[in-house]
Amino acid sequence: MCGIVGYTGFQDAYEVVINGLRRLEYRGYDSAGIVLEQGSTFDVAKTKGKVEDLVGISKNLVGKSHVGMGHTRWATHGVPSDRNSHPHLSNNGKIAIVHNGIIENYDTIKIMLTEKGFVFHSETDTEVLVNLIQYLMDINADIDFPTAVRYALNEVYGAYAITVMHSDFPGVLVVARLGSPLAIGLGNKEYFIASDASPFVEFTKEAVYLEEGHMATISLENGVDIRNIKDNVKIIPEVQQLKLSLEQIEKGGYEHFMLKEIFEQPKSIHDTLRGRLLVEEGIIKMAGIWDHLERLNQAQKITIIACGTSWHAGLIGEYLIEEFARIPVEVEYASEFRYRNPIITDKDIVIAISQSGETADTMAAIKMAKEKGAFVYGICNVVDSSISRVTDAGSYTHAGPEIGVASTKAFTSQLTVLSLIALKLGKHNGHLSNQEFMKLITELDALPKKVEEVLESTHENVKEIAKHFIGAQNFLYLGRGYNFPAALEGALKLKEISYIHAEGYPAAEMKHGPIALIDENMPIVIIAPKQGHYDKIVSNVQEIKARKGRVVALVNKGDTQVASVADFVIEFPETSECFSPIIASIPLQLLAYYIAVYRGANVDQPRNLAKSVTVE
Ligand code: F6R
Repeated sequence: MCGIVGYTGFQDAYEVVINGLRRLEYRGYDSAGIVLEQGSTFDVAKTKGKVEDLVGISKNLVGKSHVGMGHTRWATHGVPSDRNSHPHLSNNGKIAIVHNGIIENYDTIKIMLTEKGFVFHSETDTEVLVNLIQYLMDINADIDFPTAVRYALNEVYGAYAITVMHSDFPGVLVVARLGSPLAIGLGNKEYFIASDASPFVEFTKEAVYLEEGHMATISLENGVDIRNIKDNVKIIPEVQQLKLSLEQIEKGGYEHFMLKEIFEQPKSIHDTLRGRLLVEEGIIKMAGIWDHLERLNQAQKITIIACGTSWHAGLIGEYLIEEFARIPVEVEYASEFRYRNPIITDKDIVIAISQSGETADTMAAIKMAKEKGAFVYGICNVVDSSISRVTDAGSYTHAGPEIGVASTKAFTSQLTVLSLIALKLGKHNGHLSNQEFMKLITELDALPKKVEEVLESTHENVKEIAKHFIGAQNFLYLGRGYNFPAALEGALKLKEISYIHAEGYPAAEMKHGPIALIDENMPIVIIAPKQGHYDKIVSNVQEIKARKGRVVALVNKGDTQVASVADFVIEFPETSECFSPIIASIPLQLLAYYIAVYRGANVDQPRNLAKSVTVE
């Protein structure tokens, strides 16, 4: 939700900020803006639209400054427009701000400032904050700029990552965070600021991740001075060595990040398993689990909380953990969990799943679960993200940076981690026999190879099939057992990037309503591996065909029964039923991708979406 970039140093600030914004565009692309220090004034350019639209109106700023900041926006308060774009300036024109988050009490502050004569040019909460900083400086002649920012932040509540500049304090950037991420890159005679480290990874490998409730004053003269926002106590920063490489955050020859990330899955799943699955020794070694094995195994129940795709992974996690470890599991949307009064005690385990590790609803749900005494286990992709820090223990998915807004490789890595956890718990508590355990871990070990195989064998076929559905207006996705959540995920992928309405259902539920929608215009994607309830799925396909629905069937190699009645067939290699969603998800991702591409949609930046949802 919004990306922030800042720079002070010897390079052309325009180039650094614009390139940084390009890398952060996945966080929001409703509008973009830049402000550069220009003697004792500012040069500002901002516009509705994408970073390239900003470049179109701001080329005159190239090479003009060594200090500046920029913003790419996902609209919260105020429609996407030039007016509501960041940066925002204070009424006296001396203070500029870029902001990621929401100031919840902006309304009351706005009323107060309006009474004092302040005028607002946008509908944003951010403009209120920058004017509050000016107001505090106006009425306290003896406070300096960083102190005014600190005072202002103590007056607001909500979530923010901000960067602020003051034209009377040249070369100084003041940054702060609460609930939204902010990283400071430490270069040689230069400093970088960004919502994540990707904008500065080619310039420095040293970074400080600002902690919750901290702010920093950054200048070439005085370096990075970090304070607690509440009481101004000085903080000694912990400098981290970045492992991120430039290659990881570039498209590497693919047309879209999404396609690159789909094709990375043999590697990302391999990376998720690496060092954890030791088949020859017959063990699963996971530090996060190992240290808390007893606590996990004695759980009265496990509640999985997540949003979107991560919630779908959680549903499959429920099947896995209940089947292999026999511990009761519930799966909840974090946004629902946090606002009801769930029964959670200190005998409960809560597993929070999040790719970004920043999702506001998941964060709030974790906080609530901890207050109720639960032990919270995190499954995150982004290393050092907020969720990975607030949880009691956890496992990283190690899928690598996921930049396409639609989640693909993070999902299959989440499923891989959940499989490891379920098998580890089941083995430890004796519900899983050694023989069964060995069989399953051998199969798990084979997954990267099978994913590679399914990519190779289905890619061209799916690309062709997709052409038949460019004009579709609705889709149904059906699956049973482990593949019911895979159907939900397939439908989500399609709707978010192609804007075709799609719904996922357990195949047997079709008769309880959705069957009314089926006619010759309704495409139905059905996941039908030759396991579990295969016979029942065969009957479902026949029911659909009797109503002239167009069936795209995902079947195991060599299947003839479903294949003979389906309109389109996608074959995938056989694996244990519990891992089949990992394999089946690959052609479903490709199908959504190609339908969206043929419809001319912006696959990596679907409308209205953003990669990390740091507002509720
Ligand atoms: C869909 C998608 C979203 C996210 C959801 C949760 O492709 O990416 O539905 O899964 O916003 O995000 P995380 O996993 O970062 O908490």
